[in-house]
This record gives sequence, C-alpha cells and structure tokens, in this order.
Amino acid sequence: MNDTDMTTENKKTGIRLLAIETSCDETAAAVVEDGRHVLSNIIYTQIKLHTVFGGVVPEIASRKHIEKINLVIEAALKEAGVTLDEIDGIAVTYGPGLVGALLVGVAEAKAIAYAAHKPLIGVHHIEGHISANYIEYKDLEPPFLCLVASGGHSHLVLVKDYGVYEIIGRTRDDAAGEAFDKVARAIGLGYPGGPKVDKLAREGNPHAIEFPRAKIADAPDDFSFSGLKSAVLNYLNQCQMKGEIVNKADVAASFQQAVVDVLTDHTIQAADRLGIDKVAIAGGVASNSTLRGQLEKACLENGKTFYHPAPDLCTDNAAMIGAAGYYEFIKGVRDGWDLNAVPNLKIGSR
Ligand code: KG4
Ligand code: ZN
Repeated sequence: MNDTDMTTENKKTGIRLLAIETSCDETAAAVVEDGRHVLSNIIYTQIKLHTVFGGVVPEIASRKHIEKINLVIEAALKEAGVTLDEIDGIAVTYGPGLVGALLVGVAEAKAIAYAAHKPLIGVHHIEGHISANYIEYKDLEPPFLCLVASGGHSHLVLVKDYGVYEIIGRTRDDAAGEAFDKVARAIGLGYPGGPKVDKLAREGNPHAIEFPRAKIADAPDDFSFSGLKSAVLNYLNQCQMKGEIVNKADVAASFQQAVVDVLTDHTIQAADRLGIDKVAIAGGVASNSTLRGQLEKACLENGKTFYHPAPDLCTDNAAMIGAAGYYEFIKGVRDGWDLNAVPNLKIGSR
C-alpha cells in the first residue's frame, strides 16, 4: 500500500506537521516533514524586551506571544510553501515552561486544529530539545544518551526508543543555564548570560581560579551547580573587600570550565556504565563552544559518536517540536480539546 492509499490518520511518511513553541521568550512556528526535514523554522525572539529587566518577565512574554503568534505561523506556512490543507497535524509545546506563555501556544494550536479539522499533538519541551538531533542527523536512531542542559533543566536522558525516555541524572538545584545566567549577572554581563559568558571566556584563562566541581556521593550521575555559583559570588565579594580588580574574563573562563568539566565527565561516565556508544547534546547550553569542543574530544577518546545540533537548533525553536511531534503522531498519539498547559510536565509522561 502506498501513501496515497492511506488516510492522513494512518500514513507514516509524507507527514507534515505545523509546530508551535511558546514556552519561554521565543515565539516560534515551523513546518517539519517526517520529523527530520525542516521546511520552515520561524523564530521571533523577545530577548531585547527582557534584557532591560535582567531576565524573562512572564507577563511580558505572554503578551508578546499573543501579539506575534499568528504572524509567525503565517510566515512559517508561507516559507514552507504549504497551506493549512496540506498540513497533517498541529504539534504544540504544552510543558514545561511559563504557564501564561505556554497557554498562548496551546490555545492557538487548539483553535487551528479545531477549525481546520486536524489532529492535535501536545509535545514535551525537553523531548523537543532532544529531537533536534534527529533533524541534524538524519541517520540517528535510538538508543543514545542525551545531555540536556538549558535554562531550566540539566538532565542526562537515556533515549531508549522514539519517545521512550529514562532519566539517568538530574540537577539537585540550579540548572546549568541558570548558573550561567546568574554568574553573568554577577559580573555585569546582563541577560541572557550563557552566550555572553561563552564569548568573554575566550579572552580568559580557564585555570586562573579553582572553582569547585560538585559530586554527589550516592548519585554520581546527578548534578549540582548552586555551590559553584556561590563560590563565584564569594570570590567576587572577597576581591571587592580586598580592593582587588576582578579579571572578568578569567572568572568567566574558570566558571565555564568548571561547568563543562562536570557535564562532560558525568556524560561520559554514564554512557560507559550503560554501554552506550552514541552521545548527543541538547538545550541552550549545548550551544556553548567549550562544551561542544570538550565533549567531542572526550567522545573521540572513549570510542563514542558525538551528536551536536547546530546552535540555532539547540536554543528554543519550533522545528524540534515538529520532530518530537512526528514520532508521537506515527504512534497514534492524539490530544483532545481539553489539552492544557502543564508548567511542571515530567519527561516521558505519555
Ligand atoms: O533551551 P533554552 O533556549 O531555553 C530553555 O528551555 O531554558 O536555554 C536557554 C539557556 C539560558 O540559560 C542561556 O543562558 C543558555 O541556555 N545558553 C548558553 C549559551 N547559549 C544559551 N549557555 C552557555 N553557553 C552558550 N553559548
Ligand atoms: Zn528550551
């Protein structure tokens, strides 16, 4: 039987999803075919609006999403060269994230799906981040281990199969991206901190200051970044008290090196123990140049293949939601008109 003999509900190839992402401060829409081919990927970033406040202001984020969402979707369809009629389903991030921001995307997706008689598929934001790897690497198949490091999450996730996840390790306190943002603020770099620390660190000495690399005795795969963040703040305070001039580039480079060492060591150790030879990265912090370089080297030395999506697929986007949504779609996952935003949605909760 070929595709033309099948109904949209049953076909598994030639599936085009319109994907919507509004969980934080990016209003994004994309059209993705068969989970791997991006026909369009439109992102309206609100970063400039939030920069003056030093972080994302939830109410401003929601208001901007509602203003931009239709324009972004229209642009995504236009760039893909498809009409709504040629779309097989609507995939939308329904958690985790800021509730007011998520609600804009979820309500929009439901309205389009209802009016256009299309299936609706709710997608987990982090499962989306992981699935960005399927877009970058057309031949990547589970099982693989994925290090997910973003503003709200630091997880080591074993991807056992499409849409089947096991959390191997998680942060006990701050997420890696959160630590980058807080340290950036403390040294006066502003929001968003990650890319600014990354850039400044290139001018500094990563071994200038010995910051701690936390290990949790009974849970070697878990992370903890709050002690490191406090160590940086203490160092800055001590310099101020002694009247010493702080070398910000050295602080940025030494802090970043501590984060990257921990993320790299935990990932390689977990992959070895699990007998996994494919290692992927995902989330905003995965666009960090030192992390990419160090993990790539460690994978090479330990006989593992390293998968790293392009930086613009690591930070928030809707193409990744279309990739994750496709694998749910072909499994028959459909959401009802009661789909709601779930700000603390757990990975693998289907
Ligand atoms: O995945 P993402 O775009 O949004 C969330 O789901 O949280 O991640 C945003 C986080 C922010 O904390 C940001 O500072 C961090 O990713 N980030 C980086 C870099 N680019 C973004 N952290 C370190 N180095 C980078 N180059
Ligand atoms: Zn994200």
